Amino acid sequence: MPSKPVMLLTDPAHFEVSYTINPWMAPGAWAADPAGHRAAARRSFRALAAALRAAGARLEVMPGVAGLPDMVFPANAAVVLDGAVLVARFRHPERQGEEQHFKDQFRALMRRGFFDEVAQFPARCFQEGAGDCIWDARRGRFWAGYGQRSTRQAADEVAAFFGQEVTALELVSPRFYHLDVCFCPLGGGEILYYPPAFSPAALAAIRDSVAPHELIEATDEDAQRFNVNAVNIDDRVVMASASPRLVARLAERGYRVDEVDLRPFILSGGAAYCMTLRLDRRSSAAGALRRAAG
Ligand code: ARG
Repeated sequence: MPSKPVMLLTDPAHFEVSYTINPWMAPGAWAADPAGHRAAARRSFRALAAALRAAGARLEVMPGVAGLPDMVFPANAAVVLDGAVLVARFRHPERQGEEQHFKDQFRALMRRGFFDEVAQFPARCFQEGAGDCIWDARRGRFWAGYGQRSTRQAADEVAAFFGQEVTALELVSPRFYHLDVCFCPLGGGEILYYPPAFSPAALAAIRDSVAPHELIEATDEDAQRFNVNAVNIDDRVVMASASPRLVARLAERGYRVDEVDLRPFILSGGAAYCMTLRLDRRSSAAGALRRAAG
C-alpha cells in the first residue's frame, strides 16, 4: 500500500475578505454579513476536510493568524518536494506577513521528521508556492506560472534547488493569477486547463509536452467556478461545486468528482487546491538522487 498523501491546511477562524489583491475579492460582500460568511467558511472548511479524508488524505491543520486572512491558502506558502521546502516570497504586502508564520510551521514539521531542509526563495524573487509551481507526477516535472504573482526567475530557482525540470508558463489574465486556477495535472496524465489564461508561448509549451487526448479544456464556466483548482488523489477529484457536464467529462476518464460548496473562499479568489499543500510528494528516485548530488 502506498502511504497516504499528507496535506497542510489552515484553520479558517481568522479568514475574512478585508482587502482586494485579485479581481475576485469582494470585501464589500463579506462586510455585509461577516458572521454569516465566517460561519459558512467554517462549514465549507469542514466539508473540504471530510472530502479530502474520504479521498485518502491525512491532514495537518495549523492555526491561522488574526490579520492574515489568506493563510487559509497554504498552497501559496511553499514549493515542497522530496523532503525539501522552498518557502514563498509573496508579491503583495497584504500577504508578506504570512511568510514568517509558515516558516515557523515548516520548521516545526521538520523537527517532526517531515522534511530535512527548509529554505526560501531569494529576496525580491516573488514566488507564491505550489499555487504557481505544480508537480506533475506523471511527467516527473514542475510546471511554473509567472507573470501575475510569481516571476520568471523563480522557475530557474526551483529547477536549481530541486534538481528537476521546470516548464515556465506565462499567465496573461489578472483573473487567473495563479497557475492552480487554470492548470491541473491529473494522476492519469491528463491536464485540465483553461487556455485563455495562458500566453501563446505557454500554450505551445503545454501542447509540446502533452498529447492532445490528454488535454481537457475547462470552459469559461468551469474556470469561473474554480473547478480547475482541484485536488486529485488516485481516481478522486475534490473541487468546488461543478457543472454536471464537467463531472461527466471527468467520469468518462475514470475520475470521480467530489464537490464541496466553497463559495466563502471563492469570495477571496481561492478554492480546493489552494486550500491545501501536499507535504509528501516524492519525485522519482533518480530525481531525488540528482538533488542529493547537488
Ligand atoms: N486572496 C488570495 C490571494 O489573492 C487567494 C489565493 C488563492 N490561492 C491560489 N493559489 N489560487 O492571494
